[in-house]
Amino acid sequence: MTPEKLAALAREAMTHAYAPYSGYKVGAALLCGDGTVYQGCNIENASFSPTNCAERTAFFKAIYDGHRDFTAIAICGGKDGVVSGLFPPCGVCRQVMREFCEEDFRIYMVTPTGYEERTLAQLLPDSFSL
Ligand code: THU
Repeated sequence: MTPEKLAALAREAMTHAYAPYSGYKVGAALLCGDGTVYQGCNIENASFSPTNCAERTAFFKAIYDGHRDFTAIAICGGKDGVVSGLFPPCGVCRQVMREFCEEDFRIYMVTPTGYEERTLAQLLPDSFSL
């Protein structure tokens, strides 16, 4: 699975977003160690705080199915589904990644022309874990 293919799956996942309040559609594609890919979208709520981010939707689907080994995630998002720049993962999603991933877990943030790559250690330095 190339980063480009993972990015394309994140773009596809974005079209599943339920985002009537913010208008920001977000998609994620999570690559497991065995090659399985889980897609996720953001799911908003009228009460706002129950909103689930695209990244966590993908992680929770995979965790439920028994996966514990993760290699990379591609993320894309934008107002009305238009990718105009990076859509970096929020702090809560970074901490969820920390729970299940090593510090070299790859994060591909999709741009209009490609993607930018970071490790989890770069996006969440000095992280908390038990
Ligand atoms: N959102 C995500 O899906 N992932 C993130 O990492 C940041 C934010 C969603 C939540 C909400 O539906 C919308 O983007 C605007 O905050």
